[in-house]
Formats: sequence, structure tokens, C-alpha cells
Amino acid sequence: MSKLWGGRFTKKPEEWVDEFNASISFDQQLVFEDIEGSIAHVTMLKKCSILSVKEADQILQGLHTLYDKALKQELDFSVEYEDIHLNLEKLLIDEIGEVGGKLHTGRSRNDQIATDMHLFLKRRVQEIIELIDELQEGIILQSEKNVETIIPGYTHLQRAQPISFAHHLMCYFWMLQRDKERLEDSLKRIDLSPLGAGALAGTTFPIDRAYSAELLGFGSYYENSLDAVSDRDFIVEFLSNGSILMTHLSRLAEEFILWSTEEFQFIELDDSFTTGSSIMPQKKNPDMAELVRGKTGRVNGNLISLLTVLKGLPLAYNKDMQEDKEGMFDTVKTVVGSLKIFNGMVRTMTVKQKRMKEAVSNDFSNATELADYLAAKGVPFRQAHEIVGKLVLHCIGEGYYLKDVPLEEYQQHSPLIEEDIYSILEPYAAVERRNSYGGTGFQQVKTQIDKGKSLLKSKEAATK
Ligand code: ARG
Repeated sequence: MSKLWGGRFTKKPEEWVDEFNASISFDQQLVFEDIEGSIAHVTMLKKCSILSVKEADQILQGLHTLYDKALKQELDFSVEYEDIHLNLEKLLIDEIGEVGGKLHTGRSRNDQIATDMHLFLKRRVQEIIELIDELQEGIILQSEKNVETIIPGYTHLQRAQPISFAHHLMCYFWMLQRDKERLEDSLKRIDLSPLGAGALAGTTFPIDRAYSAELLGFGSYYENSLDAVSDRDFIVEFLSNGSILMTHLSRLAEEFILWSTEEFQFIELDDSFTTGSSIMPQKKNPDMAELVRGKTGRVNGNLISLLTVLKGLPLAYNKDMQEDKEGMFDTVKTVVGSLKIFNGMVRTMTVKQKRMKEAVSNDFSNATELADYLAAKGVPFRQAHEIVGKLVLHCIGEGYYLKDVPLEEYQQHSPLIEEDIYSILEPYAAVERRNSYGGTGFQQVKTQIDKGKSLLKSKEAATK
């Protein structure tokens, strides 16, 4: 076998050098995008009379045959032909003869690979956006069932104030909403055709870049041929968006792991998303949540890898850029998998409402209620804070909570405290009263859920 670029060489690289150079082991994932790019290219060459109708039709037919074979996984790729582009070109020539060699007229692998990546990423980002929608919907379903479920809210992982469990969950809805908006915005920069930029400088053939872009469904095309083949910002941006998204999922993973411990017992993850121990028969481990938390590491790594690859690269294409692929494939796979896992976990988990209620009845997370109570009666907040702080210290000494303090004792600390304090201290009432815009008050949480639902619905309507 001889290389498709073998003309000016007197020697071939040894097999192990080929092995080092080749990307076919991973870029074969681009097989469909690569064939589609070629079909658009040849259709354009035909329209512009750069290839005769007969030649173009022969090539197109060959490309369709390769596409069908790819669907049936019948294509044999080899390291000898380095990457997906040269492998397919070789297979095309084998299929239809010498005329296959005309496919590469007015094109380079440099604009070809960039085109493949744009097409591939556009599709995957659209899939990821849909998966985020599904997870958001799962969060809404769980939230609707738990508007009046009270849990301790934490700061510094110390109990702070009681909140609605739905409020806590809905926080992740909004984080995911931002992730989705970032991905949607990035589509503008992904949905761009580099095809026709050639190796770096354009081509002498009278091509029609707008036409091939349109055939591929791209919204637009690059203004500068150097930029078209050198730009990998759209991948960096995706990797960055993926890292932020995984950071959000990783935070939720951590909460699920904590909440399902014996110490918290706030939720139980469904059996189908947990595993057992090979030695300890009692164990139910939150492996899926842990894996999402752990896989965030590789996704962050993929971002740093590509930034490092690109840093200091001169224009235009350099082989270093072949290193843009594995990380991108990996981030796509990891993000898709993690979103699916979370969608399933959120929808199937058991929320232990009774246990959450118990937790919040025996703590000091209602201390702010007492301070606000005094402040509302005219005591400067700072002074109210001090009075309640002393009361908490007293309770800790006595071994009870604010709800157990006798009225006489309260009045020794402040004569302004009256019988109504006991209902004020109720965690349910404390949450209900926090009705400031965006607060945890039930009314606010319901409004938030309705907003979330209409965001998902209006999108659904827009895509119909
Ligand atoms: N396999 C190459 C890559 O992924 C394709 C482009 C190769 N271009 C070249 N001039 N060697 O980057």
C-alpha cells in the first residue's frame, strides 16, 4: 500500500511511527460527519462545474455506499491511512476507481477536519441541551412534591435557617438553566462552516462556500480562511461549558452522597442507581453520584489540555491540533452520561420528609426567627442578635432548644418576648414567612416552579 501523499517521499515511516501519527483509532467517530462534508463538497463542485456531472455523480454514489456501510459498521479502517479523511478517500477510490481521487479538489484535510468537528459538536451540543431540559423537568417534578417539605438550610455545612426542600432543589434548576443558555449561545460560534478554506489560503477553484455551508445546514461560514482552519475556540468554549456544568452536577452529587448517609438520612437513592459492597452485606453505596463527582476531574482536565495545546501555536494548522479530539469526545460522553444518571436519580429518589422534619425540629436553625422577632419590636438587630446568642448558649448548657425555653426565662432575657414566640419558632412558620422575592417562602417557591415550568414549555413550543 502506498500513502495518498507519498509522491515526494522515497521512504515510508515505519509501522510504529505510523501508529504514533495516526488518529484513526479515535477520529473514526467522525465517520458520518466526514462523509456528509464530502457529499456537500462534491455537490458544490458539481454545481460550480468544477467537476463534471458524471464525475460528481459517480463520487456521490460512492460516498452514499460508504455511508451505508458505515451504518452497518462494515468499513475497515487502517492505521496506514492515518486518519478518517485519508481512510475514507482510500475506501472511495477502492469503491469507484480513480475518479474518487477528484473528491479532494479544492479542499484540504485542514478545512475538512474543522468542518467535521463543527458538525459533530453542533449535534452533540443540541443533544446535551435536550438532556439538560429533561433533568430540569425531573427537578421540577420532585420540587412540586416537596414545596412544604422543610430541611435545614446550611452555610459552612452548619445548620443556618430552615428552608423548603423544593427551594434547595430549584437552585439546581437555575444553575442548569445558565448552563443551557451558555450552550445555546455557543451554538452561534459552532454553527459555522470552515469548508472551502482549503489548507489555509482558500483555493483557485471557483467554489461556492455559501452553498456548501447551506447544504450542511450551517447558519454561516468563516470570513477568513486562516481563521477557519486555525480556530479551536468553539471546542475550548464547549469544554469550558462542560466543566461548569459538571461542577454543578458534582455539587449536587456531593449533596446526594451526604443526604443518603446514616448521619443525614434525608434521601434514599433508588436501588437502580446504587451498588453493594463485595464484603459488607449492609452497604448501599452511591457509586453513580460519586462517579459524576469524580469524572468532573477529567472534564476539567480536558479543558486545561486543549488550552495548553493551543497556547503558543502559530497560524495556521499544526498537527498539535489533532490533540483536540479525544478530550472533546470524552467530555461529550461524560456530560451526556452524567446528565442521564442525574435525571434518573432525581426522579427515582425517596425523599424522607419525616426525617427532614425531625432534623429541623431539634436544632437552632430558628434562632434568626427570634432575632427578627425582637428587631420587629424595635430592638436594634445587633442587640437582638446578642440577646439570642446568649439564649442559645444558655440552651446548650441546659441541653434543650429554643422551643423548650419557658416564657419566664425568655422574659428575663427580654421583656418583649411574649407567648406568641412559640409559634414564631415553628420551622414551618419560619419558612412560610420568608416571602421576600426569590426567598424560600412557599408562595415564592411555587412562583419559581411556575416560572421554571413556563421556561421549559415556551422552549418546547418554540422548537415545535
Ligand atoms: N488528522 C488530522 C487532525 O485531526 C487531520 C488534519 C490533518 N492535516 C494535515 N495537514 N496533516 O488534525
